[in-house]
Amino acid sequence: MTTRIIGTGSYAPENVITNDDLAKIMDTSDEWIRSRTGIGARHICGKDEGATYMAIEAAKRAVEMAGIDPKELDIIIAGTSTPDKCLPSCGCEVQAAIGAVNAVAFDVSAACSGFIFSLNIVQGFFMSGVYRTALVIGCDELSKIMDWSDRRTCVLFGDGAGAAVVRAEETGIRHFLMGSDGARGPVLECTARTTGNFLTGTRPDIGFTSMDGQEVFKFAVKKVPECITQLLEETGTDKDEIKYFILHQANMRIFESIAKRLKVPMEKIPVNIERYGNTSGASIPIILDEVNRQGKLERGDKIVIAGFGAGLTWGAVLMEW
Ligand code: ACO
Repeated sequence: MTTRIIGTGSYAPENVITNDDLAKIMDTSDEWIRSRTGIGARHICGKDEGATYMAIEAAKRAVEMAGIDPKELDIIIAGTSTPDKCLPSCGCEVQAAIGAVNAVAFDVSAACSGFIFSLNIVQGFFMSGVYRTALVIGCDELSKIMDWSDRRTCVLFGDGAGAAVVRAEETGIRHFLMGSDGARGPVLECTARTTGNFLTGTRPDIGFTSMDGQEVFKFAVKKVPECITQLLEETGTDKDEIKYFILHQANMRIFESIAKRLKVPMEKIPVNIERYGNTSGASIPIILDEVNRQGKLERGDKIVIAGFGAGLTWGAVLMEW
């Protein structure tokens, strides 16, 4: 058995912040952001939104499209680095909200690779016959871990959530790869809470994201094509057989470089970064949901999904729709 996607859904907060809006609160411009990243706007959570709220909305839409009863779900995994709470997990909160009373639920922390890692964990359960139906979520509220005075980093990110209902079937995921390089973690990091307790006599501090943009850029343009090439080689698949390369929406220039290295036309890489910015774990399931709802995927189409992010982490999946 393997993993087949039977429903997708996504949600982004109502507040849309354009590059021009940002230029009013920091020293930046639409021209700088657009020309270096392809980003034009991003969604930012209001007071009553947040990672869990977005995840629930995306999950409801995926469940509705799949046409299943939430009680059929055996497992829920939320890929998120920015949950509302340390305890309980975002996955458990989604479980409660949608009434998936028979599911086990938990979170996976793998930054922008969170959705791919979660999907592949489900694949492991399906291959071993343990579970049959799952909900995989990618959701992140990056706006709350940004230093809004650090223009090098904050202009890139936005908030959102995407989800997929998957089922154990004969066709679906053909092969997957995942990797991590923890030694390179410091190029993109955010401390959750510093140490602070009755022994240290201090209260914990909360950190904000810091990023070495050029290092992340170099990593992405090397690792993603490498990973996709390996995936194709190991399955004996020609790149021309792939209808779409669904990539983590980080930067338009990264897409262009990946397309060049893989020798695939840009038309095969769906892009929505102009409207969302980088939504980390949510970016892949959001673009997947858009492509799916536009009716661009037909049964039997081969697609590659690939992402990279903090950790450093990366992953790729080859699947038949
Ligand atoms: N507006 C205007 N000027 C700016 C801004 C801004 N928002 N940010 C930086 N600058 C200035 C800098 O101060 C610098 O000026 P200086 O030369 O006078 O010092 C100049 O622009 C160039 O800055 P660089 O940081 O060198 O810009 P670079 O060309 O490297 O582009 C960028 C930066 C867009 C971040 C690029 O490095 C990049 O896209 N990296 C990949 C990042 C990424 O994809 N991260 C997501 C990872 S996925 C995850 O896990 C979340």
